[in-house]
Amino acid sequence: MNEFICGMPKAELHVHIEGTLEPQLMVAIAERNKIKLPYKSVEDVRRAYTFEDLSSFLEIYYSGIQVLLTEQDFYEITWNYLKKASSQHIRHTEMFFDPQAHITRGISFESVFIGILGAMMDGEKKLGISARLIMCFQRCMSVASAMEALLLSLPYREWIIGVGLDSYEVGYPPKKFASVFARARQEGFLTVAHAGEEGPSEYIWQALHYLKALRIDHGTACIQDMQLVALLKAESIPLTVCPLSNIKLHIFDSLKMHPLKKMLDMGLHVTINSDDPAYFGGYINENLLAVQEALRLDHNDIYRLARNSFQATFQTAKEKMTLL
Ligand code: ADE
Ligand code: ZN
Repeated sequence: MNEFICGMPKAELHVHIEGTLEPQLMVAIAERNKIKLPYKSVEDVRRAYTFEDLSSFLEIYYSGIQVLLTEQDFYEITWNYLKKASSQHIRHTEMFFDPQAHITRGISFESVFIGILGAMMDGEKKLGISARLIMCFQRCMSVASAMEALLLSLPYREWIIGVGLDSYEVGYPPKKFASVFARARQEGFLTVAHAGEEGPSEYIWQALHYLKALRIDHGTACIQDMQLVALLKAESIPLTVCPLSNIKLHIFDSLKMHPLKKMLDMGLHVTINSDDPAYFGGYINENLLAVQEALRLDHNDIYRLARNSFQATFQTAKEKMTLL
């Protein structure tokens, strides 16, 4: 089973590039950029990675991001992730990045974007991995700030496949961003949104209705609402579930309590993803191995998860054929 899981081709649809910053690389980049970290060593960084909830994680995550200043820094984190992804037989990845977390620190959109794009091109050429970018708006920031990020992205429009919504969830309903998402759709971006991670199922309804989200990131709260489950099934809306993230952020008490198997059995289009692998203790294979064991998934379940991941990509039917 383990060989089957690790060796099978798969797609990853929910990974934050900034969340792939491994402690070792964080320390190396901080040294290069002459930034003083609040940690004494790589082990010290790892020890800081215990979280009570999404908010306590995001504080550490945004603080880690501060080391990223130059195009080279963005190239390196992306390249590191793509090497790891390729070693785990990920054929295609759709990666989030958080431009507002960088432009508000005075870093140009261009440096962030060009660094990431350079690694994506090298990934395609040297590793044979196809990669796409999704730009996330931070729901805790203003609509004006999200619109500013959207306008800055327009010169790079052809390289960014979609927009998403992330960051602190409870108290920040998706509805607020309806106008930004409408503009993004007009510009040709596809749309996704984090919803129902820590927040209620109502936020999933809102993401579908007001943002016209084509995929829901996390979305595990849907199981509290059978009408919503029926809609997600009828419309075949993919849910990009991140099991190790959910446990680290105490969304569920243990993997045995995770609703993934229930969601699969209800016929929902679920996929497995790593979210912020450097912070949550595992990339996609570690997530798959952990849920397989905890929930006693069989070969059929695992195969479905991999097949779902390819079906849920934003690749065209023709492009999907070349991934397998
Ligand atoms: N940004 C990075 N990881 C996130 C998560 N799990 N939820 C919301 N925003 C995020
Ligand atoms: Zn996420």
